[in-house]
Amino acid sequence: MKILLLGKSGQVGWELQRALSPLGELVALDHEGAPGLCGDFREPAGVAAAVRSVRPDLIVNAAAHTAVDKAESEPEVAQAINAATPGAIAREAAALGAWLVHYSTDYVFDGSGQAPRDEDAPTGPLSVYGRTKLEGEEAIRASGCRHLILRTSWVYAARGGNFAKTMLRLAAERERLTVIDDQIGAPTGADFLADVSVHALRAAMAQPGLAGTYHAVAAGETSWHGYARFVIEWARAHGLPVKVAPEAVAPIPTSAYPTPARRPLNSRLSTRKLQDAFGLTPPPWQQGVERMLTEAFA
Ligand SMILES: NC(=O)c1ccc[n+]([C@@H]2O[C@H](COP(=O)([O-])OP(=O)(O)OC[C@H]3O[C@@H](n4cnc5c(N)ncnc54)[C@H](OP(=O)(O)O)[C@@H]3O)[C@@H](O)[C@H]2O)c1
Repeated sequence: MKILLLGKSGQVGWELQRALSPLGELVALDHEGAPGLCGDFREPAGVAAAVRSVRPDLIVNAAAHTAVDKAESEPEVAQAINAATPGAIAREAAALGAWLVHYSTDYVFDGSGQAPRDEDAPTGPLSVYGRTKLEGEEAIRASGCRHLILRTSWVYAARGGNFAKTMLRLAAERERLTVIDDQIGAPTGADFLADVSVHALRAAMAQPGLAGTYHAVAAGETSWHGYARFVIEWARAHGLPVKVAPEAVAPIPTSAYPTPARRPLNSRLSTRKLQDAFGLTPPPWQQGVERMLTEAFA
C-alpha cells in the first residue's frame, strides 16, 4: 500500500510517521514539501497536484491551521489550510479511489450544555478555526471519497511544547497560578490518536461501511485547572522543582481571560460510536498524560 502523509511534523503527524510505517510505503510531507511535491496547504491546487503525482492508496492529513487565536486575524489563510485544501485532497482521493483519514475538532460545536456530544449533534462553531474546520469536514463528505474524519480535543504530545510543560515551567517560577476552570474536555495524546487512526482504518478498509465521522478522545473529563493541578501534583511527586503550592493554583472563569477567539465551554465528546464500530476502548486521560510527563521529564 502507498501512503501519503501530510503535515508530518505536527503533534499528530509525528506520531503518524511511526504508526503508519508498518502499513506500506510512506511518503511524508510537511509544508515545505519535497522536490516536485507541494506540501503547502495555502495552495490547494499545488497539494492536489502532489496527490495526483504520488497516486496513494491512502492519504492521511494531519496538517491544519491550529493557531486558534491567530486564525481570527487571517481567516483566508485558515480557510485555505483547514477547508479548501482538505476539500481538494478529498476530490483527488475520490478520483483515485484512495482512502482519506482527516482530523477535526470539538470546536465545530458551540460548547453549550453539560452533556457529551455525539457525531450527529448540531454544529455551531464559535471561531474562525472551528468554522473552517467544519467547512473542511463538509468538503470531504461532499467529495464522495472513502474517509474517516476523527474529531478530537485538547491534543498534546511528548515532542515539542504543550500545556502541561507550560504549566510546569510556570509552577517552577511562580508562587501563584490562575487557570481556567469552566472549559471541560479530555486531554488526548497524539500517540493515542495515531494508533486509533491505524486500527480504525484497517477495520474500515476491510468493511467500507464503517467510513464516516467519529469522535476520538481519551476517557474522562477535566478542566484546564484540573489538568494543571494534575501535572503539578505529578511533578511534586517526582521531585521536579515546584514553587507553587497546590492551593495557590487558582481557578478562574473563561471570562477573566479574554482571547481573540471564543472557545467552547463544553468540549465533551462521546466516543460510543468509535467504541461500537471498532471495538476500541479509550483509556482515561490521566494515563496518557502521565506517560507523556514520564517521557518528557522522568
Ligand atoms: N492541537 C489540538 O489541541 C487539537 C484539538 C482538536 C483537533 N485537532 C486537530 O488535530 C489535527 C492535528 O493537530 P496537531 O495538534 O497535530 O496540530 P499541530 O501540531 O499544530 O500540527 C499542525 C501541522 O500543520 C502544519 N501546517 C500549518 N500550516 C501549514 C501549511 N500552510 N501547509 C502545510 N502544513 C501546514 C504545521 O506545520 P508547520 O508548523 O511546519 O507549518 C504542523 O505540522 C488537526 O486537524 C487539528 O485541527 C487538534
